[in-house]
Amino acid sequence: MSLIFQPSANIARLKESATLAVAAKARALKAAGLDIIDLGAGEPDFDTPAFIREAATAAITAGATRYTATEGILPLREAIAADANRLLAHGPPITAAEVVVSSGSKQSLYNACVCCFGPGDEVLIPSPAWTSYYEMVELARAVSVPVFGEEANDLKVTAAQLAAAATPRTKGLMLNSPSNPTGAVYTQDELSAILTLAAERGWWVLADEIYLRIAYEGGARSALEVATTRDNLIVINGVAKAYAMTGWRIGWTIAPVAVSRAMTAFQSHTTSNAAAVSQHAALAALGRPQEADEAVHHMVREFQRRRDAVMAVLSAYPTVRYVHPAGAFYLYINVAGFRGAADAGAAFAAAVLEEHQVAVVPGSAFLTPDWIRASYATSESVAVAGFTRIARCLTGA
Ligand SMILES: Cc1ncc(COP(=O)(O)O)c(C=O)c1O
Repeated sequence: MSLIFQPSANIARLKESATLAVAAKARALKAAGLDIIDLGAGEPDFDTPAFIREAATAAITAGATRYTATEGILPLREAIAADANRLLAHGPPITAAEVVVSSGSKQSLYNACVCCFGPGDEVLIPSPAWTSYYEMVELARAVSVPVFGEEANDLKVTAAQLAAAATPRTKGLMLNSPSNPTGAVYTQDELSAILTLAAERGWWVLADEIYLRIAYEGGARSALEVATTRDNLIVINGVAKAYAMTGWRIGWTIAPVAVSRAMTAFQSHTTSNAAAVSQHAALAALGRPQEADEAVHHMVREFQRRRDAVMAVLSAYPTVRYVHPAGAFYLYINVAGFRGAADAGAAFAAAVLEEHQVAVVPGSAFLTPDWIRASYATSESVAVAGFTRIARCLTGA
C-alpha cells in the first residue's frame, strides 16, 4: 500500500520561513546567471574572528569530538553567566545552573516556548516580529496574539498596548530588542514598563537579545539591566549575529533553575547537546572578552558605516518612510499603496526582484504587509546600489 503524506495536526498550520524562502529564490536566480543583489539575508557577511576559529581547531585536536552534557559544557555556561552578570542590575548573580546551551538561539526560543506555553495559553507578540515567533508559539499549541506598534513609535509596542491585548489566558510575551525586522531599540523606560507589567501579571517574558550588541547611538539595554526580578524572565542569546558565527549553531537561555531543568530534559529527548566543537568556539568568544570586544566593535562600526551610507541614499527620496534603524542590520521600509496591491510588500518584493534584481523580504512575513525588510549586512557598495534601486522602484524615479 502506498502511503500519501498528510501533515500531522502538529504542523498542519506551519508556514515555510519567508526569510529563508527569499534567500532560496535569490540563490536560484543567481545560479541561473542573474546579477542579484541579495538584501534578504539575516546574517553578518564577516568571517568568524580568527581567534575563535583557531580555538575550535585546537579543541578538535584536543578531542572535543564526543557528546557533552545536554545543557552544555560547564566552562561555557560559566562564561555565559559571567558575561551576563556584567549587565545585571538587581538580584543575586546568575549561575551556570541558570544557563542551558542549545544549537542556536532559535532552538533556545523553541525550548522555552514548549516548556512555558501549552494548549489554550495566549502569548503576546509585539509585532511586526521575527517570523518564527508566531510559528514556535503555535508549535507549542499555544495561541500567538500579535500586538501592533504605531509607526510614530517606530512600530514598538507599549506596556499599555500589551495590557489592552491581554486576557485571563495570557501566559507570556516575546520581547526582541533590537528588533528583527525593524531595527528599532526599546529604551530603558519602555523595557521597564513592559517588564513591570509582566511581573505584576505573572507572565513569562522571553527576551530575545540576539542583536543586543549590534546597536548604534547609545546601544541597547538588556532585560537583565532593567528587570527587578528574574522569576519570570527568560533571556535568549547566542553567538550568531554579534560574533559572526551563524553556522556554528550555538545559542542559550538564562532562566530560573526549574525552567532550565525542564528545557534540559526536553532537549535531552530531541537534539541532546549542541556540537562539542561549536561549544568550544563559543567558549573562546565569551571567555576571551578583550579579543571578542575588539572583533565585535570592528563589525558594529562597519554595520554603522553601511547603515549611515544607506540612510544618506534614502535622504534623497523624502517620500520613502522607514523605521529609524537604531540596531540590528535591517531597514524596515513602508511601501503601502505600491501599485494599488492589497499586499503591497509582496507586490514590491516581486517587482524589485524582477525589475531591479534586488531581493528583499515582504513584510507579510512579519504580519505587516505594507512594509518590506532589507538588510545592509553586505558590503557598503552593494548596500548603496541595492537601496538606490529600492528607492527608485518605490518612487518610480
Ligand atoms: C530575532 C532573531 N532571533 C533569533 C534568531 C536565530 O538565531 P540563531 O542563529 O542563534 O538560531 C534570528 C535569526 O535570524 C533572529 O533574527
